[in-house]
Amino acid sequence: MRQFMFAATMVAAAGGATAQEFGTEADAAYADLLWQVMEAGRLVGDGSLMATPYEGGPPHGVMLETFYTTATINGHTGDLIVKRNYGPEGVTAEEVLADPATHLGAVTVMFRREAGFDPDNQDWFWVKYLPDGTLDKNPAGMQLAGRVAKGAEQGCIACHSGVDDYVFTSDHITAMMQ
Ligand code: HEC
Repeated sequence: MRQFMFAATMVAAAGGATAQEFGTEADAAYADLLWQVMEAGRLVGDGSLMATPYEGGPPHGVMLETFYTTATINGHTGDLIVKRNYGPEGVTAEEVLADPATHLGAVTVMFRREAGFDPDNQDWFWVKYLPDGTLDKNPAGMQLAGRVAKGAEQGCIACHSGVDDYVFTSDHITAMMQ
């Protein structure tokens, strides 16, 4: 059921980097905290707030919902973007709304960490959760949390760095910073 997303995108395991750049214990612990904050805000988990899903495409999902907000973790407040990825192929918005839990394939999240976390990439913390809040892994077994696939040719950072603010769907964060 869940393999329909991302299967091909996470192949690169930090090409060339010596130290592990993402998916560390600290990254996983931070991702857990973030999940709890999102759950409290009804962005994930049972009783989530729903928007009208819109059509998406690879790598994220055939039906998507995206929420833009802020969150506070350990005293740091940053931009938070939560994307719910639904499937499988051919699913309609009505079917997703009628039974979101069955159709949810993954939750992909960007959270802007404190300055210095990853200055090369605007300090975004990347996570791909499975619907139950556990972390998805790439084929090399690395948990998808932190500076995901930094330095690799594919993956969250490589693909999102194709746009100036790393955010494809909205310019509101850049607009607020100007
Ligand atoms: C091959 C390119 C690609 C890869 C790899 C990728 N994304 Fe995306 N991502 C996109 C595109 C395109 C959108 C806009 C989709 C839409 O909603 O229409 C997007 C949207 C998002 C959004 C909503 C904010 C935005 O940019 O519009 C989040 C959050 C997100 N992706 C997280 C992730 C995470 C986390 C990973 C890695 C686990 C990842 N993405 C990997 C292309 C990619």
